Amino acid sequence: MKNTLIAPSILAADFANLQRDIEMVNASEADWFHLDVMDGVFVPNISFGMPVIKSIAKHAKKPLDVHLMIIDPDRYIKTFADLGTDVLTVHYEACTHLHRTLQAIKAEGMQAGVAINPHTNVALLEDTIKDIDLVCIMSVNPGFGGQSFIENTYKKVKQLREIIEANGATTKIEIDGGVTNRNAKQLVEAGSDVLVAGSYVFGASNPTETIADLKKIVL
Ligand code: DX5
Ligand code: ZN
Repeated sequence: MKNTLIAPSILAADFANLQRDIEMVNASEADWFHLDVMDGVFVPNISFGMPVIKSIAKHAKKPLDVHLMIIDPDRYIKTFADLGTDVLTVHYEACTHLHRTLQAIKAEGMQAGVAINPHTNVALLEDTIKDIDLVCIMSVNPGFGGQSFIENTYKKVKQLREIIEANGATTKIEIDGGVTNRNAKQLVEAGSDVLVAGSYVFGASNPTETIADLKKIVL
């Protein structure tokens, strides 16, 4: 039986009650904290940065999955390692020398993730797949929570799963954007390992139960 990992996205938490929401995730069946960092350049929005992540890290009892939606992410690899990041994900579209960036992330003792925008073909990762610990397939255009899921994602998951298997890689597939109970099962069936969910979890009347329901989706 496959254990699908659930990563609530803190972007959808109540920033005025951050500690309460972090404790909720700690006490839930969630596996990771998904933290979205936006620079207002790579994406048309600005979220939160280092001081906020430092505060989150103080209370979080589960791995930190940091999703950098920023240009030139190499500048901050060490900073995020020092903040206690477990998985550091950079965007394919923001890295001119992706292979070098992946090595730099690993050299800091973190798992290396690559996120791809909806228009980016998974085949572009074929030559680096063995160096990638996690591929984050964006199922919305990055920048905002609460958008609707792009259906073409299922096809991308299947194609990426084939590439991973053909290369004998152990890369995890993460889905980010618009994840709900309406698409979660089909995403797991297509070969996804990690589901990020922001508004679906934090907008629910009972977030803990919503996480538990997502966690119940098994193959
Ligand atoms: C979007 C972010 C997502 C976002 C997901 O740019 O990368 O992680 O928080 O939010 P929902 O689940 O609401 O689509
Ligand atoms: Zn994200």
